[in-house]
Amino acid sequence: MTSSPSGPEGARTGPAQPAWRALAQHHARIGSVHLRELFAADPGRGERLALEAAGLYLDYSKNRVSDETLSLLQALAVECALPERTAAMFRGDAINTTEHRSVLHVALRAPAGSRIVVDGVDVVAQVHAVLARMTSFAQAVRSGGWRGHGGKRIRNIVNIGIGGSDLGPVMAYEALRHYSQRDLTLRFVSNVDPTDLAEATRDLDAGETLFIVCSKTFTTLETLTNARAARQWIVGELGDEQAVARHFAAVSTNIEAVTAFGIAAQNTFGFWDWVGGRYSMDSAIGLSTMIAIGPGHFRELLAGFHAMDEHFRTAPLERNMPALLGLLAVWNNNFLGAASCAVLPYDQYLKRLPAYLQQLTMESNGKHVTRDGTPVGCETAPILWGEPGTNGQHSFYQLLHQGTRLVPCDFIGFCRSLNPSGQQHDLLMANLLAQTEALAFGQTAAQAAAGGADPALVAHRVFEGNRPTNTVLAECLAPATLGALVALYEHSVFTQGVVWGIDSFDQWGVELGKQLALRTMAELQADPQPALTHDGSTNALMRRYRRLRSA
Ligand code: F6P
Repeated sequence: MTSSPSGPEGARTGPAQPAWRALAQHHARIGSVHLRELFAADPGRGERLALEAAGLYLDYSKNRVSDETLSLLQALAVECALPERTAAMFRGDAINTTEHRSVLHVALRAPAGSRIVVDGVDVVAQVHAVLARMTSFAQAVRSGGWRGHGGKRIRNIVNIGIGGSDLGPVMAYEALRHYSQRDLTLRFVSNVDPTDLAEATRDLDAGETLFIVCSKTFTTLETLTNARAARQWIVGELGDEQAVARHFAAVSTNIEAVTAFGIAAQNTFGFWDWVGGRYSMDSAIGLSTMIAIGPGHFRELLAGFHAMDEHFRTAPLERNMPALLGLLAVWNNNFLGAASCAVLPYDQYLKRLPAYLQQLTMESNGKHVTRDGTPVGCETAPILWGEPGTNGQHSFYQLLHQGTRLVPCDFIGFCRSLNPSGQQHDLLMANLLAQTEALAFGQTAAQAAAGGADPALVAHRVFEGNRPTNTVLAECLAPATLGALVALYEHSVFTQGVVWGIDSFDQWGVELGKQLALRTMAELQADPQPALTHDGSTNALMRRYRRLRSA
């Protein structure tokens, strides 16, 4: 297991800050201390290294940290100006420097009447004006007041979007399905693969189907392609161009492009440049969520986000849940050398949370240069992955327990099931608790040998332990809980980005592939085949594809 502060190759150096160097020295002293020792030395550790905020309880005691580690991490945060940068974000400063934009997802959940002024405009008032329009629209759809072109009630909502315009809506819908209006069918289409739309619509009656086209830019190829195909389907099925007005809504910052596409202004909901795509599930991008769960629950979701925002903005570092989660992630990543981390929700409703968090964390913090464009000098975002428990236990947990790589894990669980059935929820939670215990404390050779086990198998039965975990526990999965949970990760990601000195709000790394795809598409379509000037591998693959596609 890697535990060198400079990472597996040993060549990289961390940033040159004094607090970083102090942490590296500290790591050299305590890096190999076992959680068994830390817990033995402090029986109160489990309750001491835990805190509560916005309805969430975080136990971070099963991390490989001492009080000194935590103080040094907080010193690092101070040295990196986390408090100042947090204040700047909440104030609406243009902290997304490469795109010259404010970063104000926190304004999306600010209560009516509060004020955040950007370029002389109170953005909170704008947010609430859009929320009011979303509410009327959602109520009309939910009540059956909104009719399709042929007069039928809308029963199917298909969200078309990709990235933040898909992952937030689909994750929130799945997470809050318990609160959804069950006579509505929600589907989500994102992939440019025509199969996605075909399968999403194959059993739907077009006359009862509303498409919500979500795209911040309204230029995204996948979304516009799917939206055009959906439009063709509606017009084809209903036999009238006029049907588009009753069967399409749009959410975008690019109202001109929406109008050019032909979606009526009264069905169009705006948001703003200061909302990043992966931070937009609580903007109008959440229209499908609001239709599914109703405006009241949607407001509870926003309230949960806001409660965590306020905690993050005001709590001192040593009691600040998102800041601590972010700093622990830095410790695991940069000092313990963990190249990946897992999020393991013990709740089936959160099955899309890992996918959602992949975009949030990796698109935000998968960066190689700092804000001023110089090489970052340390590892940035770890690879995030995960599956709901207990499914993962029967697939990849073997590696978590006995593999040679360190994978810090976040376990998320609830004290009450939304679908109680006998003792099943206790069984689920017993598994969560058992996993964190096993990962932390493992099983020594002496324990493995006890009871007359085959000596040849003792080594196979040893669990090294000392695998760091966080446990997030909440009462039950309510809309507000989900809001708080997402905001917890948003601000943890922000904290990590501040420590690494990067811009967590741009995504230049997605551009090259998009440009090459456009060029490749033109070449795949050209007839006769043009001379190909890619590398030898790509040229050969393109020739083969062209030959076989029409075979
Ligand atoms: O290509 C990446 C990305 O820009 C994401 O950041 C974004 O969430 C997604 O594409 C979709 O973008 P849009 O909402 O503009 O269609």
